[in-house]
Amino acid sequence: MRVLAVGGATLDIVNSVAAYPKEDDELRAISHHQSRGGNAANTLVVLSQLGHQCSWVGMLGDDAASRYIIDDLRRNGIDTERATVHPGGTTPTSYIISSRATGSRTIVHYRDLPEYSYTAFKKIDLGIYDWIHIEGREVSVCEKILRHAREVARSTTLSVEVEKPRKSIERLIGLADFVMFSKSYASAHGYRNAQQLFDAVRPFSISAMLFAAWGEAGAWLQGADGRSHHEPAFRPPAVVDTLGAGDVFNAGLIDALLAGNEPEAALKHAVHLAGEKCGRRGLRIA
Ligand code: FRU
Repeated sequence: MRVLAVGGATLDIVNSVAAYPKEDDELRAISHHQSRGGNAANTLVVLSQLGHQCSWVGMLGDDAASRYIIDDLRRNGIDTERATVHPGGTTPTSYIISSRATGSRTIVHYRDLPEYSYTAFKKIDLGIYDWIHIEGREVSVCEKILRHAREVARSTTLSVEVEKPRKSIERLIGLADFVMFSKSYASAHGYRNAQQLFDAVRPFSISAMLFAAWGEAGAWLQGADGRSHHEPAFRPPAVVDTLGAGDVFNAGLIDALLAGNEPEAALKHAVHLAGEKCGRRGLRIA
């Protein structure tokens, strides 16, 4: 199936340490590597491995890191022809501490690049895509993107990821068929569980299927009819690396829903893929 994702692609600089440091500590990394990251890009890298034809659009810098990102996406079979390069722009970079003790990842992100524009998106022939996934970023742009996609690609399924608590991001919820929330969005709003999250956001959409990934507690969904379902986490033998687990979860949902599975089965598939990913470094599927 053909999937278009709109969102970030980053340079991730990862230092693995034995245990997460205290403030003002000085410590040596056990290992160090760089990789291409970014939520939308990560989700596509997984979908491509699952056999989908994927295209990424977003904003790129105009530097060596951007060329590295493009090469990596292409190596993963992802079409990048419609991405925008900002002349003189610097690639968004994440400095990541990955703790061997817990598998946690702590991200310090630096960005000095304009957001991908609606003007660029409008030029894409959207009718060819079975699914369009939007990473919820600059709300006014994403809103226009979702409205336009709905208007011109009526049979294409639309999803939106709500990961970070941006001002008015809730405006996107009513514009997609499927909405993926993160635990960090919920925590930032003080929702202590998925039910509280769903109760708070449901007024924004009468029809969307809502999903919430909740780390070690698994994940939940809520249908438009109010039914909800919980899937316990899949635990790998050891938690090695959680970087990108949420992006893998989103890929699992899209993959299973595109195959015509019920949302409950899609949730199970997504939880399984994300859990397995936590047991391995990187985004290669076993
Ligand atoms: C993981 C990730 C990283 C990236 C950061 C951006 O979900 O996409 O690859 O650096 O989040 O917020």
